[in-house]
Amino acid sequence: MRIGLSFDLKPDKAPVNEYIDDSMEEYDSMETVRLIESSIEANGHQVTLLGGGKTFLDNIRREKVDFVFNIAEGQGNYRGRESQVPAVLEMLDIPYSGSDSLCLGVCLDKELAKKMVAMEGIITPKWQMLSDIKKLHSIDWKEFRFPLMIKPAHEGSSKGVRLSSVVMNMGELETEAKRQFDGYNQALIIEEFIGGDEITVGITGNEPPQVLAMMRVLPRKKTEHFVYSIEVKRDYLKQVDYECPPKLDTSVLQSLEDASLKIFNILGCRDFARIDFRLDNNGNPYFIEINPLPGLGNHSDLVLMADMMGISHIALIKKILATALKRYSLCINQ
Ligand SMILES: Nc1ncnc2c1ncn2[C@@H]1O[C@H](COP(=O)(O)OP(=O)(O)O)[C@@H](O)[C@H]1O
Ligand SMILES: [Mg+2]
Repeated sequence: MRIGLSFDLKPDKAPVNEYIDDSMEEYDSMETVRLIESSIEANGHQVTLLGGGKTFLDNIRREKVDFVFNIAEGQGNYRGRESQVPAVLEMLDIPYSGSDSLCLGVCLDKELAKKMVAMEGIITPKWQMLSDIKKLHSIDWKEFRFPLMIKPAHEGSSKGVRLSSVVMNMGELETEAKRQFDGYNQALIIEEFIGGDEITVGITGNEPPQVLAMMRVLPRKKTEHFVYSIEVKRDYLKQVDYECPPKLDTSVLQSLEDASLKIFNILGCRDFARIDFRLDNNGNPYFIEINPLPGLGNHSDLVLMADMMGISHIALIKKILATALKRYSLCINQ
């Protein structure tokens, strides 16, 4: 089968301004693109690199592909940026891997995703949106228990999430909110900080979706308020240990699995996704966010956890491809 690969490449030199150095963090390296290309080829297909943005638009009209393997994050600072490539493919009636444009849009907006899962009984940290720093003092913060976590409302790859994003009081909240407004130019979501274990859950498949693996992220240095921040993700080999499967009570693992599959269905995900949770002191899982387009590079969480479960990159791509092609009644290896 001729498979097109849509992706957004990280530029060699990401723009750095006085506030942020992570504006291109979610885009992929050429190394990741080549890895996915070779894993698709190892599954017996030909690959055409389609790129992203306007290059993708030119290529998708010119190249004859039967199916698109999509890892494009989209262009611009829009909530709907991950929906761009799927929306074009839907317009052209070209089948593609992963969740559809609507699901990707909803899940990139952390508040929308939380509202949808909370409505169905999933526990998620109490939150407050902040659209403008001028509104900070008109909110009744006494309703909230510090420490609080501040994040840009529609980002991924821990963009904007730094150690300073956990705040202990109003003064710190104001300073951090200003930093994030200046750097990310979007609404912020402010949540109660859930201090227990950090667990991420990988899911693949559709009928039914299944948990592929769960992984606990353990800080090497004991710290009171661990955050899987951008500083930690960039230096993960030194800063954290990954435990997969997590050495947790079976009842905790079961509640994580139940919550994950429920969330995948509520949000209408397809083929694969990764969901982040924090546990409270009693082992209750709190939904933090979902990534229906999780990274597939060598250092990405989903790939690391698959590897720890004995699933190679080629086998992971095979699983995603097989489940996606089945949705369209397309056969693998044709
Ligand atoms: N409410 C919270 N309580 C505790 N930690 C949090 C909370 N929200 C985010 N974090 C920490 O910040 C990290 C990044 O936040 P997340 O919402 O997953 O953003 P991203 O989409 O950038 O991955 C999480 O993996 C977790 O370590
Ligand atoms: Mg996350």
